[in-house]
Amino acid sequence: MFPLTTFAIIAIIIAVAIPHLSPHLLPYGPAFDVPPNRGPHLGPRLDPLNTSLRLSSGKLTKIFERIEDGARPLVMGPETVVFDPHGKLYILNEYAQLVTLTDIRETDKPFILTARAIEVAHLGVGRPLSGKFDRTGCLYFTDVVMGLARICLTNNNESDSHVPPVEILTSRVQLNDGSWSPINFADDIDIGPRTGHIYFSDACDVRSERDGRTGRWDIMYPSKVEGIRWNMSGRLLRYKPETGEVDVLATGASFGNGVAVDKDEKYVLFTSTFDRTVMKYHIQGEKAGQIEKILDQFPGLVDGVDCSFQSGKCYVAIPTAVSPSQGYLFSLPLYISKLMRTFLLMLPRNATPNERPYGGFAEINSGNEDAPPGILRVFQDPDGRDIDFVTGVTEHAGKVYLGSLHNDFIGVYSLT
Ligand SMILES: *[C@@H]1O[C@H](CO)[C@@H](O)[C@H](O)[C@H]1NC(C)=O
Ligand SMILES: *[C@@H]1O[C@H](CO)[C@@H](O)[C@H](O)[C@H]1NC(C)=O
Ligand SMILES: *[C@@H]1O[C@H](CO)[C@@H](O)[C@H](O)[C@H]1NC(C)=O
Repeated sequence: MFPLTTFAIIAIIIAVAIPHLSPHLLPYGPAFDVPPNRGPHLGPRLDPLNTSLRLSSGKLTKIFERIEDGARPLVMGPETVVFDPHGKLYILNEYAQLVTLTDIRETDKPFILTARAIEVAHLGVGRPLSGKFDRTGCLYFTDVVMGLARICLTNNNESDSHVPPVEILTSRVQLNDGSWSPINFADDIDIGPRTGHIYFSDACDVRSERDGRTGRWDIMYPSKVEGIRWNMSGRLLRYKPETGEVDVLATGASFGNGVAVDKDEKYVLFTSTFDRTVMKYHIQGEKAGQIEKILDQFPGLVDGVDCSFQSGKCYVAIPTAVSPSQGYLFSLPLYISKLMRTFLLMLPRNATPNERPYGGFAEINSGNEDAPPGILRVFQDPDGRDIDFVTGVTEHAGKVYLGSLHNDFIGVYSLT
């Protein structure tokens, strides 16, 4: 255990020096305690034999874009797939372009399709992650940098080249004491079918920075900081289009990520990534205004979530499995784990550990009169061979569309 001892000694020396060096070494502060019964190390182990999400399952297809000669690719890091009220498919890419995929064709390779990608609009200076159309054709979207925004694609007149404007709806939220708090990482979004209210998440309190060389926003680093530090500042927010008010419904998620409303708008599902947890915020009924943990036995960390209005089942993205070293770090005695995590927070951005290759999603029952909450099926590509780092799931007409911050294609899993 020589490397471990060395590591512990370095960690202790640095811990003693922290008070003097912290503003430089720890811009986001030291690690916090992880409450008992929480942490990425809890939960079932990965089943390496279950390869139900590989191409060989016969259920997965991948849609790539047909790139015209000399054109810049558009399908880059499509975090989540979005459908408009007419069933047209869109993605939001890492250059803030809203892109539609049409004319999907088969290729000579089985399960590999191609589509024509067209830029519909440019969404601004930030990094849009997820969106949802309302009935009138307005796309509400979360942007890591800008907050909550909207663009209304209601113009069907092809000969009118008028570009619809992007409206930033809010980049802050009013707290109970009347003060305002910035939204530092708007992440996932859904719209209540009954009220038209917008439910969205603010993943953590760490802002993203732009990489000066590539011009891209580094949105992975804030999640890495939260995964090590555990400030649990992830929040579930609500925006009311009729008044413009925005309020906090729940807080305390360790990277507050996926958001999904059920078909009756009785509740909102909200995921806490590093806790591997799905929570349920009750909008109506006896428990209205309360949030409860409903599921936590996922084989990896959890990301986006979506509920089917037809079947009532919901789907949870599992971007990555927990690596052995990550599991080890959190199973150490509290004080040592905290020291080691503080040490990791001092490492330069590029030296922070990367996630383990894995692709997966789960089908869940979120709990109703007929059945308690439960994980029904887990589909996975255990080493991310065919699909890796699934961040968004969108159920549409019996298929689950899989987005990813890392991929240049979208995955489509047929449930039937
Ligand atoms: C479509 O847009 C063109 C150009 O702005 C305009 O002349 C035409 O009247 C519009 N057509 C309809 C049906 O609104
Ligand atoms: C998160 O950070 C804030 C500011 O440093 C602190 O007040 C709060 O107690 C932290 N939360 C947890 C759960 O440690
Ligand atoms: C993998 O998971 C799927 C979905 O839960 C299940 O149907 C299948 O039987 C599992 N396969 C193995 C090999 O465990």
